[in-house]
Amino acid sequence: MVKICCIGAGYVGGPTMAVIALKCPEIEVAVVDISIPRINAWNSDQLPIYEPGLDDVVKQCRGKNLYFSTDVEKHVSEADIVFVSVNTPTKTQGLGAGKAADLTYWESAARMIADVSKSGKIVVEKSTVPVKTAEAIERILSHNNKGISFQILSNPEFLAEGTAIEDLFKPDRVLIGGRETPEGAKAVKALKDVYAHWVPEDRIICTNLWSAELSKLAANAFLAQRISSVNSISALCEATGADVTQVSHAVGKDTRIGPKFLNASVGFGGSCFQKDILNLVYICECNGLPEVAHYWKQVIEMNDYQKNRFVNRVVSSMFNTVANKKVAILGFAFKKDTGDTRETPAIDVCKGLLGDKANLSIYDPQVSEDQIRKDLSMKKFGWDHPGHLQLLSPSASDIKQLSVVWDAYEATKDAHAICILTEWDEFKKLDYQRIFDNMQKPAFVFDGRNIVDVEKLRKIGFIVYSIGKPLDAWLKDMPASKITIESRVPKFMCGQCTSAIQEY
Ligand code: NAD
Ligand code: UDX
Repeated sequence: MVKICCIGAGYVGGPTMAVIALKCPEIEVAVVDISIPRINAWNSDQLPIYEPGLDDVVKQCRGKNLYFSTDVEKHVSEADIVFVSVNTPTKTQGLGAGKAADLTYWESAARMIADVSKSGKIVVEKSTVPVKTAEAIERILSHNNKGISFQILSNPEFLAEGTAIEDLFKPDRVLIGGRETPEGAKAVKALKDVYAHWVPEDRIICTNLWSAELSKLAANAFLAQRISSVNSISALCEATGADVTQVSHAVGKDTRIGPKFLNASVGFGGSCFQKDILNLVYICECNGLPEVAHYWKQVIEMNDYQKNRFVNRVVSSMFNTVANKKVAILGFAFKKDTGDTRETPAIDVCKGLLGDKANLSIYDPQVSEDQIRKDLSMKKFGWDHPGHLQLLSPSASDIKQLSVVWDAYEATKDAHAICILTEWDEFKKLDYQRIFDNMQKPAFVFDGRNIVDVEKLRKIGFIVYSIGKPLDAWLKDMPASKITIESRVPKFMCGQCTSAIQEY
C-alpha cells in the first residue's frame, strides 16, 4: 500500500488530501499538523474550515484511509510520498520584508523530513513557493548525509476557496514539475499515477521544476490582474455613465478574453493573490528586472485604490462624515462560501470607516465575532506573527464602535447606511423594503459586490451606490475625496517589531 503524508492541515492540505483519499481507496493518507486544535477539529464533527461538500468527503474516508494526526514525525517517516502544504506568508521583517515569501515553516518541515527519514521519499511542494525553492529544499534534505535519496516535485495547487471540492474533483489541470533525470521522471510518474485515478491524462501537465513553481505565481498574478483591470474600468464607468457590468460582458464575449474573473468589486482579497504577486515582484527585483516588478506591483496598487475609493465614496456621500453613524457591514469573508478572512477587503474598508469614527454593526454568516475583532485590531499581515496578538488583544476586545450580530436585519436596524462587502447569496434575497423601513433616512446602500437590483432599491427609496454603475443624482453631487484608508487610521508603533500598528 502506498502511504502519503501531508504536512499542513490547512485550507489546502485538508481538502486536497481528503479528495486523494476518496479517489484512491488503496492509498493511506495521513494529514499532520503542529496545531493540536486544528487536528482535533479535523477529527470532530466541526471541521476547522467551512467549504461546501468537504464534510461529506471527510466523513466517507476518515478512519478508513484518511487520518488526521499531530504525530508528525511518525507519519512522515512511514510515508512514500510527503506533500508539504504549510503556510508561506509574506515576510514581515528582515530582508525582503513586505514582499518576499517567508519560508520558515517550509524550511523547518524540510529539516524534519531529513531528520526522521530512514528510506527514500518523494517530497512534493504543494505550498506556493518562490521559483527555485526546490533547489534550496534539495540542499536541506541532503544535509544529513544519510545516503537517502529524495526526489523533489513541484505540484502547486490551483483550488479556490468556496469551490475547493468542485475544483479538486474536476481540475482544469494538475501541474507536476520534476527533475529531468531518470529518477526525476520516475517520481513524476508516481505522482501522476495518483492523480490519474480521477483526472483525465490530458489534464495532467508535466514540466520542469522551475516552470511548475513559476506557473503558480504567474497564474495568480494573471487572475488578479483581470480583477484590477476591470476595477480600474469601474472608476471610469462611474465618471462617464457607462455600466461596468455591460462593459465586462461585452469585453468578455471576445473568446480571446473570456467571461470569467471580470466582476468589478470592492477589491480582491484572500490569502493568495496579494502574497503571490508581492513574491513575484520580489523575485523580479532580485533578478534585475525592475520594469517587470513595477508592472505587477500596479495590480496591487489598483486594488488598494479600489478599497480607498469605496471608503471615500461612503464618507463623502454621507455629508462627508460618518462619525457616530451606524453603518451596517454585510459580509466580512473575502468571498462567499468561505469563513476565511485573510486579506479580505472588509478589513481595510472597516478600518477606514472606524478611522472616520463610524459605529459598525457587522454580520457575516460564517465569520465569528472573535475573528472579526482579531482582524480589525491586527496590523497588516498580523496573522503572520500571532505572538503579537497578546499585545494587541486589549484593544481588540475594546473596539467600542463595533458590534458583531448574527442577522442582517439586526445589523441594518437604525443604520444610516449598508455596505455589502461579500457576495453571499442570502444578501440578494433580503427583504429590502423591511430593511428600508427600519433604517435612518436618507438610507444608503453601498454595494461593493454588485449583487443588488439597483433600480428596485432606488424605487424603495434607497440612495444606491454600486461599483462601476451609473451614479444617481445624489452621488454625482457629492464627489468622492482622495483620502487613503491609511491616513484615516491612527497609528502607534508595536513594541515587538518595527511596523506601525493601527489602533482605534
Ligand atoms: P493554512 O495556514 O491554512 O495551513 C497551513 C498549516 O500548516 C497550518 O495549519 C500550520 O499549523 C501548518 N504548519 C506550519 N508549519 C508546520 C510544520 N512545520 N509542521 C506541521 N504543520 C505545520 O495555509 P493554506 O491556506 O492551506 O496554504 C498552504 C499553502 O498553499 C500556502 O503556500 C498557500 O500559498 C498555498 N495555496 C493556498 C490556497 C488557498 O486557497 N488557501 C490555494 C492554493 C495554494
Ligand atoms: C485564488 C485562485 O483563484 C486559485 O486558483 C488559487 O489556487 C488561490 O487563489 P481564492 O483566493 O481562494 O483563489 O479565490 P478567488 O475566487 O480567486 O477570489 C479571490 C478574490 O478575488 C476574492 O476576494 C473575490 O471576491 C475576488 N474576485 C474574484 C473579484 O473581485 N472579481 C472576480 O471577478 C473574481
